[in-house]
Amino acid sequence: MKSLIIYFSRRGENYINGMVQDITKGNCEIVAEIVKEITGADVFEVQTLVPYPVEYEKVIEQTQEEYRVKARPELKEYLDDISAYDRIILVGPNWWDTYPMAMFTELERLDWKGKTVYPCITHEDSGMGFLMRDIHRFCRGATIKDGLAIRGTDVSQAGGLLKAWLDL
Ligand SMILES: Cc1cc2nc3c(=O)[nH]c(=O)nc-3n(C[C@H](O)[C@H](O)[C@H](O)COP(=O)(O)O)c2cc1C
Repeated sequence: MKSLIIYFSRRGENYINGMVQDITKGNCEIVAEIVKEITGADVFEVQTLVPYPVEYEKVIEQTQEEYRVKARPELKEYLDDISAYDRIILVGPNWWDTYPMAMFTELERLDWKGKTVYPCITHEDSGMGFLMRDIHRFCRGATIKDGLAIRGTDVSQAGGLLKAWLDL
């Protein structure tokens, strides 16, 4: 079985445990690394052409607007063909109760028929939000597994949880 991780993660200022902190490695980046280690999956990182602001207040303002207008930000690089893969593991942060709009820029380009999709989200306290509704909408034709929500502060200890979730 061939696996692919598609992830989005943002470095810079984030709100963690009630404080704005500057982080050098995103939570989803850490999850993607763990998943790569335990599955040997290939990895595709969703990156916007125009990077998000480092400042927390600015990124909040910008992404709330993107969410409101259902924006599809342009990406640095696109993945168009996932025919070589059986299992697609999605990893992204909870922004406004779903993935960042840039994830949907990528997900809506792909042919999901016959794929098995594992959606994972990291969050501060909103859990899965409405992500599963959106995954069912964007990954039509795929078998969609139960989602996994991991609190941002727990990502580095999530190996066991991820293994169990991925049936490994
Ligand atoms: C723009 C923005 C919006 C966010 N919105 C939410 C939210 O609605 N609910 C929540 O639980 N966490 C929210 N968070 C926190 C992130 O989901 C959480 O810190 C996540 O682990 C970040 O992953 P990353 O470091 O890989 O980008 C938000 C963070 C940012 C920067």
